[in-house]
Amino acid sequence: MAKWRKAVAVDDFSTTYRFVVRRKEYCLYKLEDGIYATDNSCSHEYSPLNEGMIVDGDVYCPKHGSRFDIRTGAVKDFPATRPVQTFETKVEDGYVWVKC
Ligand code: FES
Repeated sequence: MAKWRKAVAVDDFSTTYRFVVRRKEYCLYKLEDGIYATDNSCSHEYSPLNEGMIVDGDVYCPKHGSRFDIRTGAVKDFPATRPVQTFETKVEDGYVWVKC
């Protein structure tokens, strides 16, 4: 069952942050309207999305360039065909929390 986990201080990252819980990787994204979280593995061939390029609320996978909507996890460009999972986030006392 998912529970809230303290990830990182809000001021300790600028764009993305890789967060690991029990060997599963998550990626946090700092966008203009808030902080979002997805699975860190691309749904195509598992490359780390925290190393991808962020443009207008989308992340481009660093390996083959699939594009995902950070807010919804939806695929916007191939070769990926499956979305990436998203997770709830909140900020409390200067820290980002992820429900995972
Ligand atoms: S591993 Fe991400 S697009 Fe191929």
